[in-house]
Amino acid sequence: MGQVTFTGPGALRDFAEWVTSNSFSRVEILVDQHTAEFCLPRLRKVIDWAGDPIVLPVGEESKSIDGLHHVWMNLLDRKIDRHGVLINLGGGVITDLGGFAASTFKRGIPFVHIPTSLLAQVDAAIGHKTGIDVGGVKNSVGTFAEPDALVVDPVFLETLPDDEYRSGMAEVFKHSLIADRNLWDLLDGYRAGRSCPPGWIQQAAEIKLHIVDQDPREQNRRKLLNFGHSLGHAVESVALTKGILVRHGEAVAAGMLMEAWLSNQLGNLAQSEWDAIRERLTRVYEPLSTKLLDPDTGIAFLRNDKKNRNGSILMVLLDQIGKGVIDRNVTEEQCRAAMHAYPGFYSGE
Ligand SMILES: NC(=O)c1ccc[n+]([C@@H]2O[C@H](COP(=O)([O-])OP(=O)(O)OC[C@H]3O[C@@H](n4cnc5c(N)ncnc54)[C@H](O)[C@@H]3O)[C@@H](O)[C@H]2O)c1
Repeated sequence: MGQVTFTGPGALRDFAEWVTSNSFSRVEILVDQHTAEFCLPRLRKVIDWAGDPIVLPVGEESKSIDGLHHVWMNLLDRKIDRHGVLINLGGGVITDLGGFAASTFKRGIPFVHIPTSLLAQVDAAIGHKTGIDVGGVKNSVGTFAEPDALVVDPVFLETLPDDEYRSGMAEVFKHSLIADRNLWDLLDGYRAGRSCPPGWIQQAAEIKLHIVDQDPREQNRRKLLNFGHSLGHAVESVALTKGILVRHGEAVAAGMLMEAWLSNQLGNLAQSEWDAIRERLTRVYEPLSTKLLDPDTGIAFLRNDKKNRNGSILMVLLDQIGKGVIDRNVTEEQCRAAMHAYPGFYSGE
């Protein structure tokens, strides 16, 4: 069965009809502590479900072997079979982990993503990648697995904290930078906070859906979606090692700044476009602590990056705003230089 997608206001109601018509043998719901409180009541109401959810602690630490084991054990205890369904109701942590758990349990049971954070609605829940962090390396173990349904309803964003909203906006900016100049121009109207109209969010989600559709297994064009994620993941990996909290979107925003700077230094990105990117992103995102820009640890992670080939660091750079290019060779020295230059982006140096 291919993925059924419900988007926009009312998506949750349409999904409820779909669940009923599918007569699953069991329905189980995976949440974290926040989505248990803020999102589950809405879902319970529409699907008339009175069971106990599988609950994980909030945060990236749950995307781990321990978190996975907890979900698998619950699925075993609850005797779910291949005719049941696991509903992943939460942000990217829940959709990544829940998708991985479902795609491996009994060699794969049906699952549904109901992303509730902005980041998951425009990115994490789209594109069939699941996974967990192992050995301190983000997303080092995972599968490609297609959910049976994807439900993107803006109603969930009403309870999302402002910081999480801003984190999700990083992926909206990213989608515009790699593929849609028109969306970048619209986003000039975005000021920190929650002022992004649902139409722009929908446009960003469609960019990802379209790219994934063209290249589901990331052989080519899908690599564009990694813009900001090479140096962004290096930052996140340093954060994991040092036990410092950094939101995914904040790390990606820093990664985009450094990679856009490299695009200007090494490639075709015009000075005026780099200036516009720097101005926009530093306006919305606070500077990261310099503790997170530890070049030695960061470069060690970059060397391990799955995007590399034959020992070279390969990155997505920008030729223009709205036009990313994949597989650009960047040396370790150039990565170090970008990390070194980052604080200066804020002081205008
Ligand atoms: N699979 C992919 O393609 C892909 C792409 C991008 C990111 N990711 C992954 O996504 C994860 C980050 O996702 P995230 O930023 O959504 O993190 P998250 O799942 O931790 O959610 C962020 C916070 O928002 C809370 N929250 C979520 N929805 C809420 C709501 N409606 N109301 C109130 N609180 C709510 C959560 O409880 C959490 O505290 C990372 O692990 C990242 O690696 C995966």
